[in-house]
Amino acid sequence: MNDLSNISSLRLGITAGGQLAKMLVLSASNWDIKTYVMDADPHCPASHNCTKFFKGSHTSYDDVYRFGQEVDMITYEIESINVEALKKLKSEGKIILPDPEVLEIIQDKGLQKLFFKEHQIPTADFKLFKDKSEIIMAIQKDELRVPFVQKVRQGGYDGRGVIVVDDPTKLSKLMDAPSVVEEKIRIKKEIAVIAARNTLGEVNHFPAVEMEFNPEANLVEKLICPADIPPDISTKAGKLADKLISAWNMTGLLAIEMFLDENDGLWINEVAPRPHNSGHHTIESNVTSQFEQLLRAILGLPLGSMELKKPAIMLNLLGEPGYEGIAKYLGLHETLQIAGVKVHLYGKKFTKPFRKMGHITILGNSRQDAIDKANQVKNHIKIIS
Ligand SMILES: Nc1ncnc2c1ncn2[C@@H]1O[C@H](COP(=O)(O)OP(=O)(O)OP(=O)(O)O)[C@@H](O)[C@H]1O
Ligand SMILES: [Mg+2]
Repeated sequence: MNDLSNISSLRLGITAGGQLAKMLVLSASNWDIKTYVMDADPHCPASHNCTKFFKGSHTSYDDVYRFGQEVDMITYEIESINVEALKKLKSEGKIILPDPEVLEIIQDKGLQKLFFKEHQIPTADFKLFKDKSEIIMAIQKDELRVPFVQKVRQGGYDGRGVIVVDDPTKLSKLMDAPSVVEEKIRIKKEIAVIAARNTLGEVNHFPAVEMEFNPEANLVEKLICPADIPPDISTKAGKLADKLISAWNMTGLLAIEMFLDENDGLWINEVAPRPHNSGHHTIESNVTSQFEQLLRAILGLPLGSMELKKPAIMLNLLGEPGYEGIAKYLGLHETLQIAGVKVHLYGKKFTKPFRKMGHITILGNSRQDAIDKANQVKNHIKIIS
């Protein structure tokens, strides 16, 4: 898009309408861009803030295709979109960014891994299997040995569709689906880097963040920026991120999850071509947020500075286990008494155990200061019903 003199009338389509779309809508609204959101749920987080809401499923060819007729360009907040509809729209001249061809590869963890291999991107060694019986056969023939990690090729998210088979008893949990089976990495830390590339080919990345998972829910619970890793590893992670987004020749954001192993080796785990949970803190802690950066990238604007202004922690606000029903937020007053605390509630009416209901960014004067404040916040806030 070269002529932005009419940016106020630009109709930006976003599928679907979860919290990532909501934050993108809020950012686009700063530039008076008109946001059109499609989601199957009329009460989804982005529905209340967007310019126009369309009810429709992002997995349906007809719904996505029809939505495309209403907007000037489409971007997305979720991978599982009907890619055939996006390709059709693109062939008819609609701007779809990131490219549907990139999305199509990333939707399939098998194709993703093959892409890494082809471009000499370090990733855990892997094999592809058609189904569970093929995996069992490989074990019987001693071609595959425990420990390993099985991942379904399509449709997994938030740890669903991934099993770590670290002892033979776990073999009973093998999933019967086309899968990637990969070497189990001895992980010291999980980090993430979000890279951006604009239509002009300019590339940059946010500083690496460190992710801590909730062991029960297999969800990111806490994220710390900057990551506590040696400077040379942080530089290496950034270079890998730039290399990967350039290899795809894509326009937009690429969120890259990486493992740092016990010998300080870096391995690419998986990628997502969209804003990511590991970039929420950038709204307050970086010069440019991931959402503004996505807009800059797809509109052909210069990328903004991705520099960290202050150390930050991001806490995902997950629904408290044991509660299901209309959400109630406890401890907001106490939480907001702490300096540098920014609360984001997504506006999901119903809570359930471990549902992502919001997040909190905590800015600190040092990394330790942010960690101390985050520990206080965790004691105050709870989402129950
Ligand atoms: N090769 C591996 N070795 C060791 N642990 C692994 C490996 N692959 C995945 N894991 C563990 O499983 C988690 C989930 O894996 P992965 O990120 O591939 O799945 P996902 O369901 O797409 O995740 P999400 O949607 O939460 O990002 C990782 O964060 C990591 O803790
Ligand atoms: Mg992951």
